[in-house]
Amino acid sequence: MLLDTFGRTATDLRVSLTDRCNLRCTYCMPEEGLQWLGKPDLLTDDEIVRLIRIAVTDLGITEVRFTGGEPLLRPGLVGIVERVAALEPRPQMSLTTNGIGLERTAPALKAAGLDRVNVSLDTLRPEVFQQLTRRKRHDDVLRGMAAAREAGLSPVKVNAVLMPGLNDDEAPDLLAWAIEHDYELRFIEQMPLDAQHGWQRDGMITAGDILQSLRTRFDLTEEGADERGSAPAERWLVDGGPHRVGVIASVTRPFCRACDRTRLTADGQVRNCLFAREESDLRGALRDGASDAEIVERWKAAMWGKKAGAGLDDPSFVQPERPMSAIGG
Ligand code: GTP
Ligand code: 5AD
Ligand code: SF4
Repeated sequence: MLLDTFGRTATDLRVSLTDRCNLRCTYCMPEEGLQWLGKPDLLTDDEIVRLIRIAVTDLGITEVRFTGGEPLLRPGLVGIVERVAALEPRPQMSLTTNGIGLERTAPALKAAGLDRVNVSLDTLRPEVFQQLTRRKRHDDVLRGMAAAREAGLSPVKVNAVLMPGLNDDEAPDLLAWAIEHDYELRFIEQMPLDAQHGWQRDGMITAGDILQSLRTRFDLTEEGADERGSAPAERWLVDGGPHRVGVIASVTRPFCRACDRTRLTADGQVRNCLFAREESDLRGALRDGASDAEIVERWKAAMWGKKAGAGLDDPSFVQPERPMSAIGG
């Protein structure tokens, strides 16, 4: 098991498959992109599958999420999913994507054993999408989401980040639209994980702001704490149900006490937290010929050092060196 000194157990593994992306969301990376990892730095498909196998068979991982960057840009994705689906015990598998290319790959991903997807969509307005992501791909994303739903990758969850002056007036419209299309919408507070280090707490739309805006059009009832478990999203029933809306309040209401995550970056580093300042090198160990038992020991040691929380409110908080696209969302 992957335990830490605060009594938490990590059962959810988030694997970043690439640091590259075909969008340029302003809250994530600059127009020109970033210094991408080189091919030799990336874990190979075999290395990824081996690490996931060790996590599932020896470390108690029951859920695997593929992230990026944009994980659909990884050529071997379908093959990786297929091989992970064949592991014993078979973990739950999900994917967090910007949706571009999902229209084409959703059926193959479903056939390979993927259970569900979370798609990022911050706006219903194509021109605002272009301002936010610096790309004209709004329609591709909408088609990708519909294809995922049709392929049975459900529930399809939608992640929306609201930015002041850009899309912060869209919360009720996004919710009405998500309900109409049978997507589960969650709003996410913007976190200090942008490559440009431009995040400012004062400039952030908070969970409180989002709920206030939604309540102008909907009646919201909070779901019990029991149903939340270790999920980052707090959920509300919309107009008595059955539809729900979530808010991931990583900044104003952090959920670190119930955190059950461990992360693997695309270059094979274990991170025990999104905001960790340290990483533990599994790629080096793999390539030095480490046995499964040695990998297990390294991974356990990395998790044992996990801090109590992200520390966003500590005066000494320093943003991690690597941005979200390199860490894995
Ligand atoms: P499910 O609800 O199980 O589908 O997963 P999820 O919400 O964890 O997944 P997703 O990848 O869609 O993440 C949604 C948002 O939650 C993203 O902005 C993540 O960065 C954020 N998030 C995910 N894991 C963590 C975490 O460990 N800590 C914090 N603070 N935020 C996280
Ligand atoms: N703060 C909050 N959410 C972010 N995402 C990307 N960057 C940030 C940030 N700085 C979101 C994406 C995606 C999810 C994985 O994280 O929109 O939905
Ligand atoms: Fe790409 Fe996601 Fe970053 Fe947007 S937030 S640029 S979709 S990695």
